Amino acid sequence: MGAIHQTAPWRHVVEHFDRLCDADLIDLFQSDGDRVPGLSVKAAGVHADFSKNRIDRAALDALCDAAEAHGLADARRAMFEGAPINATEGRSVLHVALRADGYRRIEVDGEDVMPAVQAEREKMAGLVSALRDGTWTGFSGQPIRDVVNIGIGGSDLGPRMVTAALAPFHSGPLSVHFVANLDGADLAPKLARLDPATTVFIVASKSFTTMETLTNANTARRWIAEAGGEGAVSRHFIALSANPSATGEFGIDEANRLTFWDWVGGRFSLWSVIGMPIALAVGNEHFDALLAGARAMDEHFETAPLAENLPVLMALLGIWYRHFFERPTHAVLPYDERLELLPNYLQQAEMESNGKGVDMDGEAVSMDTASVLWGGVGTNAQHAFFQMLHQGTHWVPADFIAAINPHHDLAEHHEGLLANCLAQTAALMIGDREVDDPHRFFPGNRPSTTFLVDALTPATLGALIAAYEHKIFCMGQAWGINSFDQFGVQLGKTLAKRVQPALRAGNGSELDPSTAELITAIARRRREH
Ligand code: F6P
Repeated sequence: MGAIHQTAPWRHVVEHFDRLCDADLIDLFQSDGDRVPGLSVKAAGVHADFSKNRIDRAALDALCDAAEAHGLADARRAMFEGAPINATEGRSVLHVALRADGYRRIEVDGEDVMPAVQAEREKMAGLVSALRDGTWTGFSGQPIRDVVNIGIGGSDLGPRMVTAALAPFHSGPLSVHFVANLDGADLAPKLARLDPATTVFIVASKSFTTMETLTNANTARRWIAEAGGEGAVSRHFIALSANPSATGEFGIDEANRLTFWDWVGGRFSLWSVIGMPIALAVGNEHFDALLAGARAMDEHFETAPLAENLPVLMALLGIWYRHFFERPTHAVLPYDERLELLPNYLQQAEMESNGKGVDMDGEAVSMDTASVLWGGVGTNAQHAFFQMLHQGTHWVPADFIAAINPHHDLAEHHEGLLANCLAQTAALMIGDREVDDPHRFFPGNRPSTTFLVDALTPATLGALIAAYEHKIFCMGQAWGINSFDQFGVQLGKTLAKRVQPALRAGNGSELDPSTAELITAIARRRREH
């Protein structure tokens, strides 16, 4: 059992774990006829069935009590009130303000942020309309056909995932592309297929200092300038950043600069102007519906009692498996081709947020924090790693996500998809223990949560993402860590700045022996070719 049980509020959960650690899910269903309704929650169009988890209502209630005693309700209030809960950086955490109703007052340092949020939403909507209706023209006078979002991490994964997920809602003349990697193999083939006269680049970077993004943006800038002259840059670049002066220095016109604020974490920023590629693909109305869906989940999270609160229950189950059952990983398995990128997106959201080793006071945490989040889309994943899920020594709690209705006419396909989704959760739970051959034996008792939405729409997708965001916050709160900084990504970036000149010089003697030798080997091979 992880050390969380030794800390005061969680101690009372131990007796429930002792009672349930060897319990069989099938027996739990037999002993409680109301298990399914008792362990299901519906919020903001998302139906969550938690009943196939190795827990019961009493244990979940004990976890809720522990979370309450640990101050979760207060922390939740503090977030919505704009308190600087990102204490290590002295910042508020207000992605909820980005999708809040304009009438709501949300203060940072005594100032209502909502007028600025509204103004930026409107400025973005104006640029989106101009690009979509063809009134924005490029250096040759032609309307824009392609938009390339250059950004990485939170300035890429969210907009990329949502744009792909909402493909059935795409409309208008624009094709939206994403470039993230510093590897020229990302940008080069895209440039080769695009026409500079009809291409606009969005440079998306909260800091506007990120090496990958600036390298790609500078290459794109040269490509535009070579085709249309320096003057063309103003008609072919938009910047999305919390660092407006740097976007000005890059040469982006004031009119094409959209801003957000330091109280928006990069990995929580798709609701801000960082979501512009989504709006370009689906239109402003659908983007608003995405925000509205997230807002509905925010309202539920803010007001529902902990015991009926969907994101809270997701988080407490996460704590239950991480600490009491000591599960080191968690799988996310969307049965929806459109959600193929959801596990990647959630990896950053969860692991960059909660992959921390010290608490708010800088003391080493006494327990493990974020588990490894991984996953893949069903049914493909069934033919890849599900073998391990069913028979491996290492059982993995999993989220299955499906839409009841598809956006296509292939009803038979969708029936099969849903059947597979439900069958897998049942198979994991029930197993097959009536066989003599050990190779064909399925242990069962492997837990999962099933999430259903009526259809994958902007609103239900917004709600689903917001649920995961709040889950991450609640888990971080339980661990007493700051989910909203990410100092762990800095060291590698700093070292890269030392390695690059060494690589250029072919001499890494200032670096560690292994890296120095690799640099020598690279230099030698380069000379030989
Ligand atoms: O990888 C670290 C990180 O700072 C992420 O948190 C962020 O989403 C990403 O880099 C991109 O940062 P920016 O938007 O400032 O370019």
